Amino acid sequence: MTTPTQDSLKREAAAKALEFVTSGMKLGLGTGSTAEAFLELLGPRVRGGLDVDCAATSERTAQKARALGIPLGELDALCPLDLTIDGADEADRALNLIKGAGAALLREKIVAASSRAMMVIADETKLVARLGKFPLPVEVVAFGRGSTALRIKDAARALGYEDMSIQLRMAGDAPVKTDSGNLVYDCAFGAIKDAAALAAALSAIPGVVEHGLFIGIATTLLIAHPGEVEVIRRPT
Ligand code: A5P
Repeated sequence: MTTPTQDSLKREAAAKALEFVTSGMKLGLGTGSTAEAFLELLGPRVRGGLDVDCAATSERTAQKARALGIPLGELDALCPLDLTIDGADEADRALNLIKGAGAALLREKIVAASSRAMMVIADETKLVARLGKFPLPVEVVAFGRGSTALRIKDAARALGYEDMSIQLRMAGDAPVKTDSGNLVYDCAFGAIKDAAALAAALSAIPGVVEHGLFIGIATTLLIAHPGEVEVIRRPT
């Protein structure tokens, strides 16, 4: 038996998610390679007659969905959505997430928050005992970005993250710009002790538009292990 690759596990998680999609649903479409694996499976089903209306979490996803013939609409016209299906950079068993490696965290959070349910699809490397190994993306407005970075460091220190390091995300010589024209700081906190407290502290900083901590938003986690997709549901 060959060992499944990370990409094939992503496809397994995406295929499992498709089992939860039924005709008539309004869907939020996530961003990233796992979400794109889902789009590649959804496209043929739509062409075969599955009737769904979708809202995209990024320009990149919108472009891919259009190419696959997946119908797209405006979030404002479609909300509330029935289900958003998206990837994650890290997830724990309490369904807390870190997202934003693809710089789409703001729209991802808006779309997920506009959905009755959020299903996260990921290969097993994304499942962690505690969030924080992956640097937390924080989206900020460009104006005063250096000052905002200092406030983020102050907030980290106040919560006991003395060694937090912060880096402006770059694409070559220029800062990465999000679909909303903002910038992203990647903040390496190390193990995050209290995700809710950190989320609240970051949200309170002027200039911070959004952070990649998704707390209490995801409702189901589909984690692909070799030979099995584990379904983890938020306790009700
Ligand atoms: C995009 O901004 C992110 O939140 C992605 O959902 C996350 O990075 C997962 O991406 P992959 O599926 O490519 O790992």
